[in-house]
Amino acid sequence: ADEGMWLPLFVKRLNHADMQKKGLKLTAEEIYDINNASLKDAVVQLGGFCTGEFVSSQGLLLTNHHCGYDAIQSHSTPQNNILQNGFFAATRREEKQNPGLFVDILVRMEDVTGKVLEGITPATPEQERVATVQKRQRELADNAKENGKYVAYVRDMFGGNEYYLFIYQRFGDVRLVGAPPEAVGKFGGDTDNWMWPRHTGDFSMFRVYADKNNQPTATPQPGNVPYVPKKHLPVSLQGVSEGDFAMVFGFPGRTQRFLPAAGLQLTLDQTNPARIKLRDTRLKLWKEDMDQDPALRLKYASKYASIANYWKYFIGQNEGMKRLKTVDAKKAEEAALAQWIAQDPARQQQYGEALTTINQAYAGIREYNLSTQYVNEAAFGTEIVTLAARLMPLATALKANDKAATDKAVADLKEPAAEHFKDYSAPTDKKVFAALMALYMQDVPKDQQPDVFQTVQKQYGGSLPKYADYVFSNSFLTSEAKLNAFLAAPTLAKLEADPGYKTYQSVYQNYVQNIVPKLQGLQAGLGRANRLYVAALREKNAQKVYSPDANSTIRLSYGTVRPYKGRDAVQYDYKTTAQGILEKEDPTNPEFVVPQKELELLKMKDYGRFADKAGNLPVAFITDNDITGGNSGSPVINGRGELIGLAFDGNWEAMTGDLAYDPELKRCINADIRYVLWCVEKLGGAKHLVDEMTIVNNGPNPG
Ligand code: ARG
Repeated sequence: ADEGMWLPLFVKRLNHADMQKKGLKLTAEEIYDINNASLKDAVVQLGGFCTGEFVSSQGLLLTNHHCGYDAIQSHSTPQNNILQNGFFAATRREEKQNPGLFVDILVRMEDVTGKVLEGITPATPEQERVATVQKRQRELADNAKENGKYVAYVRDMFGGNEYYLFIYQRFGDVRLVGAPPEAVGKFGGDTDNWMWPRHTGDFSMFRVYADKNNQPTATPQPGNVPYVPKKHLPVSLQGVSEGDFAMVFGFPGRTQRFLPAAGLQLTLDQTNPARIKLRDTRLKLWKEDMDQDPALRLKYASKYASIANYWKYFIGQNEGMKRLKTVDAKKAEEAALAQWIAQDPARQQQYGEALTTINQAYAGIREYNLSTQYVNEAAFGTEIVTLAARLMPLATALKANDKAATDKAVADLKEPAAEHFKDYSAPTDKKVFAALMALYMQDVPKDQQPDVFQTVQKQYGGSLPKYADYVFSNSFLTSEAKLNAFLAAPTLAKLEADPGYKTYQSVYQNYVQNIVPKLQGLQAGLGRANRLYVAALREKNAQKVYSPDANSTIRLSYGTVRPYKGRDAVQYDYKTTAQGILEKEDPTNPEFVVPQKELELLKMKDYGRFADKAGNLPVAFITDNDITGGNSGSPVINGRGELIGLAFDGNWEAMTGDLAYDPELKRCINADIRYVLWCVEKLGGAKHLVDEMTIVNNGPNPG
């Protein structure tokens, strides 16, 4: 299919006819309507980072295992390890509360470009424009919140050429209902991650709860009852064939398809290598300790998974950029654009500055970019520094001698601190601290380094391990008891003398005072230049309908079930079966262990009603839908609006997809809904959850 993560608001105008051609049977109103129940009411943003969909009238929600991972881990202990063993609530009472987890359900969206940009002209000075736009964004959102009834925000699209208002209901009571064993939900581990063919049962189940009037509550409440959604998706057991229409509805996080060549180049040769190197170090040290100690392995499981996920992503993205010559392609596009601009004095007047400014800005950013990366991935890659940062409000309150603010800052720390220490090992963090800070000291230009490294040089002979010894022996940020003792009688003197806090302060102050001002000027110019660049590109290619970059707002993408050719002589099928699970099975490799019960069921071919027509158990399939991170857990919907799968990953050959889209290579990897239900009913023994769904049997998928 074509590139595009489309705004549902415009489906009727932009996409509906093409979707019908590909097999869609629904009307545009059945997809997005603000007056009657439509598909958008069945799709939610989960926790701000994933997507989920309602599959019953009782608020039952499906999403990915990797989206529920943190919640699943938080309910696991070495004694009752539901991450490892899996879990399905037998009754509503067994469903597990997750304070802090929420879902957002879209009420409506609106194009507010006219309101935001009213009176602004090309002559408006940039600073004035930025201030006016920000003020109006805030006002429009505040107004739409109706005194706290809704969550609302205005997001810019196309580099600030357009603005949209999104209004949501936020439900703060989302309970864990079930998950397969990790060996199913993360089968293939980091080895298979970002790759096809796949055999992962990447799903978990939650239930959204509301008050007695079906209204959201901010936090879990004992009196809450299952939320009755306006719409839930029927589930089809018909299965997929090549060419079937498929639509993915969800909340893609971030793409940068309008990133100029200079930006791509910086990512390729500076940003990604730094991230990869620092994450490599962190992951190796974590893993060493996780392999030594099962309790520690559980504590670090979720952190490890999320750092490893994007570690491999950055590797794949760089490999892909080299293989597909992504920078060269963008350079050619820019050269053509420059020529088009130069052809016409009016264009020259309007857009002439864009590309020059962009290239100058990136040349400047390149000088300071490593500092940014090392602050984020090295200093803030250590947990002690991350925790120290949370003490900033307390430091401010103590400095102001404000008793009320101090008490509040202390109270606000209790929960995050408890959460931090629940999954914390100081000896592990100390090793990571020593290694990452050593790389920071080694790799970042000397004149951009924080003072703390002078201390390391002068007092610890340049040895980060020695400095780490000192920090971790003397900081109260290494255990909950020590932190609480400090919080019982906090003083500014004690806080500022803490070596963990001092390290953080040094890194942070240096960044804010010496690096940020340099970057700010460059980025302001870049903001304007990017906006002009995108506008010029759209004007030049007026016949092409561009979709805006992903920015965690609700989108729809459509396409078909479709195999692909990965590289010369390599052709991939569009679906996998349980046969592949048995082929990959390896009891000596934790990533490829198959749980005993699953092995038995698969060997007996006990597939029940979930078998395909050839008698195999389908596991995963691919479509050419355009998705990215944040879409995880998104429903894959057939032409009749029925659920056929859960999107959970992208493929290795198209890891550059967030930067440049390749229709021949990019695929969306989906768990087949029949495997999901098999895992619930046969493997998990939770038929009552399948019975809650609306299973339909309407014949093969259209398309
Ligand atoms: N690559 C997937 C995504 O970001 C996450 C897959 C999680 N699985 C894993 N083995 N880490 O959507």
